[in-house]
Amino acid sequence: MENNIKKILVTEDQIKSRCIELAQEITNDYKNSTVTPLFVGLLKGSVPFMAELIKHIKLNVKYDFMCVSSYGNSTESLNDVKIIMDLNASIKNVPIILVEDIVDTGNTVKAVKELLYNKGASDVKVVSLLDKPSRRKVNVKADYVGFEVPNEFVVGFGLDFAEEYRQLPFVGVLKEECYEVKE
Ligand code: PRP
Repeated sequence: MENNIKKILVTEDQIKSRCIELAQEITNDYKNSTVTPLFVGLLKGSVPFMAELIKHIKLNVKYDFMCVSSYGNSTESLNDVKIIMDLNASIKNVPIILVEDIVDTGNTVKAVKELLYNKGASDVKVVSLLDKPSRRKVNVKADYVGFEVPNEFVVGFGLDFAEEYRQLPFVGVLKEECYEVKE
C-alpha cells in the first residue's frame, strides 16, 4: 500500500505535534465555557484525527460522531451532503467543535454547520486536520487548521481513496496511476 504513495506531505510526528498545538489553542479558547463543549467528528475520515486531538484537550468535553456523504468512489465532491447517521443526544445550547479530516470544496462543512445550528447549537467552530483552499467552492473556513495542502490527491490519517489508505499514519499523495482510469 505504501508503494502507491508518491510523496509524504505530513509525517506522523508533524501530525502529533500539531495536534498538541491545536488542542492547547482549543483548551484555551473554551476554558471559560459554562456548558461542556461537544466535539462532533464526521465519519469516517475524522476518526484518527479526533483520537489524536482529543487526548490533549485539558477540559471536560464530550464527543460524538455523525456520518454524511459527499464523495463516492470518485475524486470529485457532490454539491450537497446526505445525512447517513445523525447525532443521538440534543445539542440545544451546546457549543460544538466540528472535527474534519479535510475541508476541500467546503460543501460538507457549510451544510453540516447549518444543520447543527438548526438543531440549536449555541456555536459551531470547525477544526480540520487539512485545508485545501485552492478547491473551495463555498465561502467557509475552518477555525483551527492543522496543515494547508496543495491540490493533490491526498490519503492517509483518515483520508481514503475508495475506502482504502485510511490507516496510514501520515498524509501522502497518491500516485496518479492508482486512481486514473486507463483508456
Ligand atoms: C470527505 C472528507 C470531508 C469532505 C470534504 O468526506 O472527510 O468530510 O469529504 O469535502 P468537501 O469540503 O468538498 O465537502 P467523505 O464524504 O469522503 O467521507 P469519509 O469521511 O467517510 O471519507
